[in-house]
Amino acid sequence: MHIPNYQEARTRDKRDYQRMDFQLDQSLFNKYSGKKYFIKTYGCQMNEHDSEVISALLEKMGFERAKDYNHADLVLLNTCSIRENAHNKAFGMLGRLKHLRNEKKDLIIGLCGCMAQEASVVEEILRDYRFVNFVIGTHNIHDLPTVLDSAIQNKKQQIEVFSREGDLYEGLPVVRANSIKAYVNIIYGCDKFCTYCIVPYTRGRERSRKKEDILREVDELIQDGYQEITLLGQNVNAYGKDFYDDYNLANLLEDIAKKDVPRVRFMTSHPWDFTDSMLEVIAKYPNIMPSIHLPVQSGSNRVLRLMGRRYTKETYLELFHKMKDMIPGVAISTDIIVGFPGEEEEDFLETLDLVHECQFDNAFTFIFSAREGTPAAKLTDSVSLEEKEERLQRLNDVVNSYFLENNKKLEGTVVKVLVEGISDKKDMYYGYSETNKLINFESPRELKVGEIVEVEITSAKTWSLDGRSI
Ligand code: SAH
Ligand code: SF4
Ligand code: F3S
Repeated sequence: MHIPNYQEARTRDKRDYQRMDFQLDQSLFNKYSGKKYFIKTYGCQMNEHDSEVISALLEKMGFERAKDYNHADLVLLNTCSIRENAHNKAFGMLGRLKHLRNEKKDLIIGLCGCMAQEASVVEEILRDYRFVNFVIGTHNIHDLPTVLDSAIQNKKQQIEVFSREGDLYEGLPVVRANSIKAYVNIIYGCDKFCTYCIVPYTRGRERSRKKEDILREVDELIQDGYQEITLLGQNVNAYGKDFYDDYNLANLLEDIAKKDVPRVRFMTSHPWDFTDSMLEVIAKYPNIMPSIHLPVQSGSNRVLRLMGRRYTKETYLELFHKMKDMIPGVAISTDIIVGFPGEEEEDFLETLDLVHECQFDNAFTFIFSAREGTPAAKLTDSVSLEEKEERLQRLNDVVNSYFLENNKKLEGTVVKVLVEGISDKKDMYYGYSETNKLINFESPRELKVGEIVEVEITSAKTWSLDGRSI
């Protein structure tokens, strides 16, 4: 049994790690043929992609995907710790699974993802959730087959969570959820330690994959017909810094853009490490999509300092306008937290002021959620939840109005859309534009999933646009 602890998870040193090749223990291959699995995924794209790897590991062991958790022999929750509601959802699901177990005595229940890295969660599972068969952490997904097998064979709860990142595994299998758009991890972990955020504790130190491994994965995806590749990391701008002297995100983006892939995206970028050479590369290559997620979190310098974000409102705006100038038609989206401890009305007004200036194309807005073990959780907070909710509402009204305003500007224009399918609700084709806007559209001819077509925009809504292909 290995139980995580924050003291260790916080440490950063130059300790060497190996880049290892994954091999499945041959005795586990197809051992569970005929059994069904279901994975419930919470949280970010990183977790979604981890679930794609976990699915592939389970399928190598013989498991088949079940259509819902009621039909599964194994249910795995891939959890997220970012805010309390993600936490609560996973525990609510565990409650439902407990009932299911009462009806199905052989049901295997597992938990992985970021919550598994929290000592308090593991303690709770040891104390109150004895029916959970196994827990593995974010650093040892490659151990899933052996941990699962021993939970089944030994009929004993297995907890295998490591506080520190271990070796970096290549060659893990993957079953992709989408046949035209693929995620590719380029960097794991985060060293930024924004004071509110739990990710540096649950995902460990920043570790870049080798460029050769990334480029090989991209080549394979292109061969398999993928049309869009999204490079993933908690902070992709830090790519290469831990490993190379002279190879960074700009170089990697350029090497990928030179390949025959129609669309390249990347996320997420911390404003702190955005360099001019990255902007030049994005501007130069038409297959790097003009869409950047640039979380600002707050428009108040006092709050940004308390958050440990390493930039000011002014330097953020400078970068924002440089992007707009250098990359024609770029769409910039953001994340904003309201109700950070000590945020006063005037700080909040600074955020609204920044939103009015930036007129973001999209924004994810959140109420601050105290995460145990992070510095911000210890700050005194005098603002009531009611007031925070009211601020969130005011903020949402403003950001939404700009989404609509930006979309309205597209009416009558022609945009390129990667066709993803036909939406059940609307009986229309749908897909995303280069600037990552959802487009529902009609077409005079039949279209194939994965085609890129030109669509004339006929009407704009807040979160989508309607059009007609030409
Ligand atoms: N690495 C990304 C963010 C990943 S988390 C970045 O730095 O940009 C996604 C978003 O969740 C963050 O941008 C932040 O807005 C929000 N978030 C993170 N921790 C939070 C917390 N404790 N309470 C509320 N929102 C939080
Ligand atoms: Fe969290 Fe900040 Fe790292 Fe983003 S950059 S994952 S917000 S610590
Ligand atoms: Fe959540 Fe972990 Fe992603 S905390 S947002 S699943 S990195």
